[in-house]
Amino acid sequence: MELSAFYRDTWVEVNLDHIYTNVRSMKNFLSPDEEVIAVVKANAYGHGDAQVAKVALEAGASLLAVAFLDEALSLRQQGIVEPILVLGAVRSEDIKLAAEQNIILTVFRADWLETALRDNELDRPLSFHIKLDTGMGRLGAKEADEVSKLISILAENEWCELAGIYTHFATADEVGTDYFQYQYEKFLEMLKWFPILPPLIHCGNSATGLRFPDKIFNAVRLGIAMYGLTPSLEIKDELPYALNEAFSLHSRLVHVKKISKGEKVSYGATYTAKGEEWIGTVPVGYADGWIRKLQGTEVLVNGVRCPIVGRICMDQFMVKLPEAFPIGTKVTLIGKQDEESIMIDEVAKTLDTINYEVPCTISYRVPRIFLRKESIIEVRNPVLFNQ
Ligand SMILES: Cc1ncc(COP(=O)(O)O)c(C=O)c1O
Repeated sequence: MELSAFYRDTWVEVNLDHIYTNVRSMKNFLSPDEEVIAVVKANAYGHGDAQVAKVALEAGASLLAVAFLDEALSLRQQGIVEPILVLGAVRSEDIKLAAEQNIILTVFRADWLETALRDNELDRPLSFHIKLDTGMGRLGAKEADEVSKLISILAENEWCELAGIYTHFATADEVGTDYFQYQYEKFLEMLKWFPILPPLIHCGNSATGLRFPDKIFNAVRLGIAMYGLTPSLEIKDELPYALNEAFSLHSRLVHVKKISKGEKVSYGATYTAKGEEWIGTVPVGYADGWIRKLQGTEVLVNGVRCPIVGRICMDQFMVKLPEAFPIGTKVTLIGKQDEESIMIDEVAKTLDTINYEVPCTISYRVPRIFLRKESIIEVRNPVLFNQ
């Protein structure tokens, strides 16, 4: 059986030129000696980890960041050889694997580091970034004692290297800057605990890089803005350069029918036709991440906004059409058609959530098509191919 890329009429398009431009824009915005760390955790916020990583590196990112060791290993399996930093906690028994794969780890507990080095004899270099908790309350060392223990344990082990120090802001994307300023000053104070500073000091996510470029030390961890999305709606109007959204989601009508007044649509028979209506069936459902809460919202068909009617099923939903569009007509759930657009911020607003969550939620079941210079350069479909 020879298989083609995918066999369903639903796909995500990832515009890698936009990723490239977004990384270049941040690079150009920063001083030449400041670095971009491309944050490609969670399958690059749902976009496609290795594909985004490659383009970000090409555009000038010097380091990749993920949340978990599995994500770093996945990038290695896909041929990425550049440095990768794991931002989250790693199990102490896995440090040898990290060293073997040349993966940089985050460290913030002296007891973890002691156990890791006692139970696993390193035989090759392993780099660490110390994470400091300046007020995010998530991960990070808070006390000077803990930090000096970390520094000395690392210094005593011939294979360990302290390559970076970082922290994370809780409110860099909010208009009010008091808490940001508090965390920034705390970071400055905590840096004094280090007799020698390592090469990389970083504290900024996208919002920090965009709004406070003089407060990033020497690198920005660029996530959401690399994908062309604003870190928050609050600061959308004060962005220093234009962002280019890279993610769009499309499908096609697979069935179109006329129903009469009183006829029902979908589970629970919650929608009743008010008169003669054209109803289209779209093969996307909550198992693809188009969750039931999106009932009643609009999608684009033939350049026109059309409402989703009746309950969203696991694999399909129905849409009310203004006329009998042909089978195969393109349906855009996120993206543009002619003059109309439904962008990620709109979907996020409807769902009462943040834009970050929307592409992350579009499941592995939806194939990703990667575009470069308007041509398809790759298709990823984990359902058919173990990717
Ligand atoms: C530690 C850390 N740094 C950087 C980022 C990237 O943030 P953003 O996507 O807002 O640029 C994240 C994302 O959540 C993160 O957890």
